[in-house]
Amino acid sequence: MAILVTGGAGYIGSHTCVELLNAGYEVVVLDNLCNSSEKSLERVKAITGKEVTFYQGDILDRGILNKIFAEQKIDSCIHFAGLKAVGESVEKPWEYYNNNIAGTLTLVDVMRQNGCKNIIFSSSATVYGDPAQIPITEECPKGQCTNPYGWTKSMLEQVLSDLQKADTEWNVILLRYFNPIGAHKSGTMGENPNGIPNNLMPYVTQVAVGKLKELGVFGDDYDTPDGTGVRDYIHVVDLAVGHVKALKKIEEKAGLCIYNLGTGHGYSVLDIVKNFEEANDLKIPYVIKPRRAGDIATCYCDPSKAERELGWKAQYGIREMCEDSWRWQKNNPNGYEA
Ligand code: NAD
Ligand code: UD1
Repeated sequence: MAILVTGGAGYIGSHTCVELLNAGYEVVVLDNLCNSSEKSLERVKAITGKEVTFYQGDILDRGILNKIFAEQKIDSCIHFAGLKAVGESVEKPWEYYNNNIAGTLTLVDVMRQNGCKNIIFSSSATVYGDPAQIPITEECPKGQCTNPYGWTKSMLEQVLSDLQKADTEWNVILLRYFNPIGAHKSGTMGENPNGIPNNLMPYVTQVAVGKLKELGVFGDDYDTPDGTGVRDYIHVVDLAVGHVKALKKIEEKAGLCIYNLGTGHGYSVLDIVKNFEEANDLKIPYVIKPRRAGDIATCYCDPSKAERELGWKAQYGIREMCEDSWRWQKNNPNGYEA
């Protein structure tokens, strides 16, 4: 039996392919490469010595989905495919709702028509909005998202939950990621953002490699220990392993389950700068800028439910996240482009 990994050529997807192959699963990837390169899958093969079956295509395309189900014995789907740039989603809401929501509706419809009712969905801490409590548990109510990207995650959680409620043959696991950073230890796979990065760690690594002059720190007047925003950064390999654990849960008939995937530790922007400098013996020039619209002060989780129910716990700390992010950037200043 094989696992269909939509968006498997992307940042989290490619790292998850490695962990799936290492755990003995067969892997089939569907990706339209709108935000990734097929080279990531070559690196997956180089690391694991195993093949991924790759289909280049779109989750909105029933034709290719049906072809995959006809040609492969798909047991479960790990669904990463989606657009994820927060700012872009504000400019292009229709494109985000269409790609993420219509795409997922199409995917799950073809899945059920083919008798495959197991899905693990990439959700986000963003569904909590400005969280009602810190650390955030899964019982914490969902909140108001500040952008269409966030709403697609929140709405898709609802769609998949309702689907499971109406047809209990479905097993649906919603994984709410906190802030994934880091890269594979080999330095051959990592995050490959298009243009100027929006997220903190890729911005820091591009300053370190000399592509950007200095980091802008978005606000130093939050109600946090040093005034800068606090987040729960998690190593992408830990996150990838979380998906393998979630698959085991699916195999035990999960029904509907929701898990936070984070470390439970909060680091401020300046903590990240300091840890990155120390881990890699580098200087990261920065300037304080105004707050970024839509940002919250503090966001970190209580990851104990995933530990109790999945037997999953993050293994890597902030130092490894900083070292591994830098190894990838240093070895691949232009990402997967030569
Ligand atoms: P990514 O952009 O690297 O990967 C997403 C992949 O999906 C890309 O390879 C892209 O080409 C593909 N894709 C997009 N739309 C598609 C479509 N219609 N058909 C087929 N393929 C399509 O992003 P990532 O960081 O690896 O994120 C993976 C998932 O996790 C996304 O759903 C994202 O929203 C979610 N997520 C990411 C983060 C994060 O910080 N990276 C945090 C929370 C949730
Ligand atoms: C952002 C998204 C969130 C998404 C997540 C992963 C917003 C409002 N939220 O989360 O929906 O799920 O990315 O893709 O965009 N920072 C700087 N300078 C920078 C970049 C970031 O100071 O150049 C700060 C931010 O203000 C924040 C922290 O670093 O305090 C982390 O930012 P980022 O990496 O963008 O993640 P989030 O905002 O947590």
